Amino acid sequence: MATSLFSALFSAVYLSCWRNTTCSAITEAAFPGVWESNIYAPSSRTVSPTSVLSLATGKLVSKYDGTIALAKNGSAVVFDFGLEVGGIVTIKYTASGKGAGALGLAFTEAKKWIGEWSDSSNGGFRGADGALYSNFSSPGAVVYTMPDAKLRGGFRYLTVFLVAQSASVQISDVSLEIGFQPTWSNLRAYQGYFHSNDEVLNAVWYSGAYTLQTNAVPPNTGRKAGPMAASGWSNNGYLGPGDTIIVDGAKRDRAVWPGDMGVAVPSTFVSVGDLESVKNALQVMYDYQNADGSFPEAGPPLLQQGSDTYHMWTMIGTYNYLLYTNDTAFLAKNWPGYLRAMTYIQSKVSSTGGLLQVTGTRDWARWQTSGNMSHAQMILYRTLTTGATLALWAPPTTTNTSSSPNLTTTWLARASSLQAATLKHCFDAPVGAFKDNATSTTLHPQDANSLSILFNLVDPSSPQAQKISSLLLQNWTPLGAASPELPGTISPFISSFEIAAHLEAYQTQRALDLIRRCWGWYLSHPNGTQSTVVEGYLVDGTFAYRWNRGYGNDASYVSHAHGWSAGPTAALTEYVLGLRVTKPAGGEWVFAPQMGDLEHVRGGFVTRLGRFEGSWARDGEGYTATVEAPGGTRGRLVLPVVMQGFMPRVVLDGREVVEGDGLEWFRRSEVGDLVSVEAVEGGRHVVVVS
Ligand SMILES: *[C@@H]1O[C@H](CO)[C@@H](O)[C@H](O)[C@H]1NC(C)=O
Ligand SMILES: *[C@@H]1O[C@H](CO)[C@@H](O)[C@H](O)[C@H]1NC(C)=O
Ligand SMILES: *[C@@H]1O[C@H](CO)[C@@H](O)[C@H](O)[C@H]1NC(C)=O
Ligand SMILES: *[C@@H]1O[C@H](CO)[C@@H](O)[C@H](O)[C@H]1NC(C)=O
Ligand SMILES: *[C@@H]1O[C@H](CO)[C@@H](O)[C@H](O)[C@H]1NC(C)=O
Ligand SMILES: *[C@@H]1O[C@H](CO)[C@@H](O)[C@H](O)[C@H]1NC(C)=O
Ligand SMILES: *[C@@H]1O[C@H](CO)[C@@H](O)[C@H](O)[C@H]1NC(C)=O
Ligand SMILES: *[C@@H]1O[C@H](CO)[C@@H](O)[C@H](O)[C@H]1NC(C)=O
Repeated sequence: MATSLFSALFSAVYLSCWRNTTCSAITEAAFPGVWESNIYAPSSRTVSPTSVLSLATGKLVSKYDGTIALAKNGSAVVFDFGLEVGGIVTIKYTASGKGAGALGLAFTEAKKWIGEWSDSSNGGFRGADGALYSNFSSPGAVVYTMPDAKLRGGFRYLTVFLVAQSASVQISDVSLEIGFQPTWSNLRAYQGYFHSNDEVLNAVWYSGAYTLQTNAVPPNTGRKAGPMAASGWSNNGYLGPGDTIIVDGAKRDRAVWPGDMGVAVPSTFVSVGDLESVKNALQVMYDYQNADGSFPEAGPPLLQQGSDTYHMWTMIGTYNYLLYTNDTAFLAKNWPGYLRAMTYIQSKVSSTGGLLQVTGTRDWARWQTSGNMSHAQMILYRTLTTGATLALWAPPTTTNTSSSPNLTTTWLARASSLQAATLKHCFDAPVGAFKDNATSTTLHPQDANSLSILFNLVDPSSPQAQKISSLLLQNWTPLGAASPELPGTISPFISSFEIAAHLEAYQTQRALDLIRRCWGWYLSHPNGTQSTVVEGYLVDGTFAYRWNRGYGNDASYVSHAHGWSAGPTAALTEYVLGLRVTKPAGGEWVFAPQMGDLEHVRGGFVTRLGRFEGSWARDGEGYTATVEAPGGTRGRLVLPVVMQGFMPRVVLDGREVVEGDGLEWFRRSEVGDLVSVEAVEGGRHVVVVS
């Protein structure tokens, strides 16, 4: 008795990382508090189902207590883990009766595909993933563990069914060893947090964070490719270096996709804080850079080629990674590759029109991709402006002598020519938004228009940006923003850029409304994962994406845990709480709260310099805010103030701040007034605006 009680307690607190990986030094949450109850990640790497459902009706049969009987051929049950999980299942059972038989195991993320066939992870047609079988030849006890190559990266529901002439089965235990976030012994050791008075926003923030955890996987568990399995699946492909790496989705594609990382990485930084997976994902792109300087569209084993936009996202990703980490050793190692990548993309800029002429036309799932599409111009603009900053951070040994051109100056000049050419050729002035490309007439895409504001190709405070922000609302449906460039579809990937664009334009309420409408809808859907963010869906709420075009006609192929849709996590921290880093590792930072209809918000994150934390809470007509950053850093406060014919009082650490004393006014037409306080030293500060 005492021994089993001891071992039960021991196993409850026993934490471990995956297989032979080197465990991360991160083992504890950086910001303990009540908000940890919103973390979806389980407290143990070994988990059990929470309930048992009927396969016939999908309804609850019982809570899971470990035991279930399957009486005859075709008998089946559905084990519901209650949230997205992924890894290796072990089932213990005893066969009785006569002869041989098999237990079938089939997996699905969404409830719609519970049954004897798994949802699709491998690109085959309906049912091609099939089931795994635990075959038994005679009565007796069996412990079945899935082979490593059959690791199922993402699912919520496990259907178990009996195939036997005259045997029956008594199941005594079902458990899952979680494969994701392999180097973490404590899956709840978040390095960032977010908390507000709005439970929907809180849940969405944590669903993005949990999705990113399910996308951080052991580098030997990539979806096998070349050739892909004709049926079934194999997740034993090499993804890249290290012990953990970030891929696009838990179930699928299980490969590194740099465009997806454009959303996933900022959200990882502010929440989970696992930048090791990001580093390994970027490194594999440099490791597989082509001789002509181009990067693959996706990492191995897939190694898809031919995407100029994803090529540039690897470059932007390099900037993001440096911004969050100040990993100058990584930059030094890869700077020659970065320079080749810049030369490669620059060679595609037309010397006449000044626009990038895309020839690697693969992109995110938008229908039309072509030569001078506006979407690619926005991404090149961001590549050049971030490249200009990266050049300042690059180690001096890799820059040339004083006679060689200054890369920062060169790239900023190119960015400014590209900006002029894009405005000249791609902007539809009578409408007030960007066209799909220089020659299109009617299509005003969600991607290019959102990115134009987010990447500051148009000044976010200008009337032009305000107009674009308001025109984006025309795409909205009750379930989210429909992408004109992917008709009939809602893309939480592109919508992640849209919410950040509204926030750049200080249209706070629009961003909050879109988060609730789109991500709030999916998270509360009873037949989804209720814990992650989905790759995309149809405007009528059907779980499908690129329906009938390119997804093998199989709606079950959609990934329900896709990091490219995790944008609200970063947006809520960086814009609504308002805390973000502007120089490597947060050597410089900004605190610029945006309130919308919220009452109070707090949150924080960690860099190698230490903890960054902020909060704000309304207080009558004004508000009180706090911000804390490591010593030796320096920040800028950008504070919303309401002008009512008098100067608001801004009190910083008990002392009123007045103009000329570090305080500066901004006016933002339409969206209210802001003041900034410059050069605030690290440490803890209290701001009262009244
Ligand atoms: C036994 O059950 C399996 C799984 O449901 C089914 O495919 C098969 O047709 C059944 N066989 C017979 C003889 O009913
Ligand atoms: C295991 O059982 C399944 C279902 O009956 C069958 O399709 C499969 O061929 C069996 N595998 C082996 C190795 O016997
Ligand atoms: C854009 O591409 C189209 C099609 O190739 C071409 O006709 C047009 O001249 C291009 N415009 C510019 C400004 O590059
Ligand atoms: C520096 O730049 C010059 C001219 O661009 C080039 O010839 C030389 O090889 C470069 N030196 C190094 C060390 O890269
Ligand atoms: C290049 O120019 C920028 C300003 O545009 C300057 O800050 C930077 O120090 C220069 N870099 C070098 C290597 O001289
Ligand atoms: C421009 O965009 C439209 C809308 O996406 C597309 O139909 C057309 O083919 C594109 N034109 C060119 C020249 O690529
Ligand atoms: C969830 O699935 C059930 C069938 O299993 C269906 O009746 C119900 O309408 C679905 N719920 C939603 C919100 O689509
Ligand atoms: C970033 O790293 C460089 C080189 O190691 C160092 O000189 C610099 O001080 C670091 N910056 C911050 C903000 O830590």
